[in-house]
Amino acid sequence: MDFAPELIQALREARHVVVFTGAGVSAESGIPTFRDALSGLWSHFDAEQLATPEAFEADPALVWGWYEWRRRAAARAQPNPAHLAIARMAGLVSQLQVVTQNVDDLHERAGNADVIHLHGNIAQPYCQRCRRPHAVASDNGTEMGDGQRLTPPRCTACGGTVRPGVVWFGESLPQDAWNSAEAAVRSCDLLVCVGTSGLVQPAAMLPVFAARAGAATIQINPDPTPLNEHVRWNLQGPAGKVLPVLVGQTWA
Ligand code: OAD
Repeated sequence: MDFAPELIQALREARHVVVFTGAGVSAESGIPTFRDALSGLWSHFDAEQLATPEAFEADPALVWGWYEWRRRAAARAQPNPAHLAIARMAGLVSQLQVVTQNVDDLHERAGNADVIHLHGNIAQPYCQRCRRPHAVASDNGTEMGDGQRLTPPRCTACGGTVRPGVVWFGESLPQDAWNSAEAAVRSCDLLVCVGTSGLVQPAAMLPVFAARAGAATIQINPDPTPLNEHVRWNLQGPAGKVLPVLVGQTWA
């Protein structure tokens, strides 16, 4: 794998790096993406029945069961070479922030400390009524089926229904996370965009903001995305293959 010398130089000189990730960065850990044609979750499941406030209202056990299935699978998954390369990079540049659309914690488990979650955290359910976090029971090494229904627990403080800790379609992003992400991409000098289709707003605007603010921009994805035209260097390939080589060659 050969990279443009200008790209290697931009990485070496960068003082503030943002790594913006989507489901593709966790694909090689065995966590399915959403929109890949064969394996993506939205090819097999209906987002309107599972990932909206109305869906939870209509059938809480269906929705809670589906998120428990995903939460347990994410808990069993391990960081892959892409997560590990990003964590390694954090030790090699002055400042590195991860902005992720993912609801798993594989960046943290790989060793990144500064991680902004735009779409929530699947392991942090909370009460729909009083918004207190709900402690996840330690019952749950048990595998679940993807269509298994499960009644959501009740909040131990107020008795309200506990909901998954993720952002659903039709909901706003957590304001603090969005503000931090926007500030990060507008002030960074280099942004690496990894494994996102760039189709979900407002997250998909972040690489565009970075490019407009003058940052050097890199995308790593096996397939082209709408972000290709906004990004200076498009590196085609799986993140778990490309990132370790890129980090290795830059800081050899
Ligand atoms: P998508 O499923 O839309 O896109 C995944 C991207 O990862 C695609 O562009 C793939 O080509 C790419 N990809 C697949 N395997 C890869 C690999 N090994 N290395 C690098 N890239 C790979 O996922 P997101 O863009 O993350 O929202 O989707 C954005 C949001 O839509 C998600 O956060 C989720 C979903 O609905 C919420 O949960 C709120």
